[in-house]
Amino acid sequence: MKDLIRKLTEINSPSGRESRIREFILNELKDSIDGYEVDKLGNLIVWKNGQTEKKLLLDAHMDEIGVVSSFIDEKGFIRIEAIGGISAYNLIGSRIIFPDSGVEGVVGIEGETTQDVQKNLKELNFDKIFVDIGAKSREEAEELVPIGMFGVYSTEFIDMGKRVVSKAMDDRIGCAVLIETIKRAKPKCRLYGAFSVQEEMGLVGASVVAFNINPDFAIALDVTAWSDTPKGYKRMSIELGKGPAIKIKDNASISDRNVVEKLRNIAEKNNIPYQIEILIFGGTDAAAIQRTSAGIPSGTLSIPCRYVHSPHEMIDLDDAENAVRLLKALVEEE
Ligand code: CO
Ligand code: ZN
Repeated sequence: MKDLIRKLTEINSPSGRESRIREFILNELKDSIDGYEVDKLGNLIVWKNGQTEKKLLLDAHMDEIGVVSSFIDEKGFIRIEAIGGISAYNLIGSRIIFPDSGVEGVVGIEGETTQDVQKNLKELNFDKIFVDIGAKSREEAEELVPIGMFGVYSTEFIDMGKRVVSKAMDDRIGCAVLIETIKRAKPKCRLYGAFSVQEEMGLVGASVVAFNINPDFAIALDVTAWSDTPKGYKRMSIELGKGPAIKIKDNASISDRNVVEKLRNIAEKNNIPYQIEILIFGGTDAAAIQRTSAGIPSGTLSIPCRYVHSPHEMIDLDDAENAVRLLKALVEEE
């Protein structure tokens, strides 16, 4: 699974620019499914038939956070706007790649005095930072990174053994878990796998997918925050390597109680480690799915992930593997 995670996370596909990642996932799955559809928004929906009419939807968003170029000055410095929850603090000192041209840039900060720089660092926002692609003029920069071009963090996948690091674990790890589940499972119900677009812009893709499929219940697969680093979130109890997390709630939704119990029972029965998650901020596609159509009972299965939305998101491979085991058992039973 490590190799699949590496390949998925190395693809640069921010929200609204998902064609590269969609192509890869479809190619990865085409021999393991009974059919697929790419809808008008670009969501990839695949399915695998079972013996019953019951419909189960598993969703993972395939976009990642990023930036878009919004202004170029006469010296060729580029201003950027956020695509999703990307922090100016994480951008400082990091590298950006604009995949459509392959051009890379580094992020700098404004300041005419050292006090200025200190003040800007304290109150950092996108007004105070810029991308330097090495251009010497507006014309040169415009050639390489025209206004409206999307970019993502340019960082390499790190293999630490059991733990792996990438800019896009959110949510390519969910995509990896979903791909593996679809490949390995012989579903009893009709299994739909949705690789949705633009989650980071407000759960855009999943809401139309769920309306279209109208499943009996749904589970979003996404990352969650952590509490096991020095002075980590003390109101949360999520640790890397202790198993996938069955979400009770986050800031956008409460998981359907029956969905939670189903996941918990399957984990208990199959001796699969799991954690119970209360995330004190954020939300997942489950929030959009549950309120579409006439209402769809929904929950989230999370992969614990350190440093979410930074250029270096870390997960434990055991958690991903146990999430696949749990979902496989679920779809073979339901
Ligand atoms: Co995210
Ligand atoms: Zn996510």
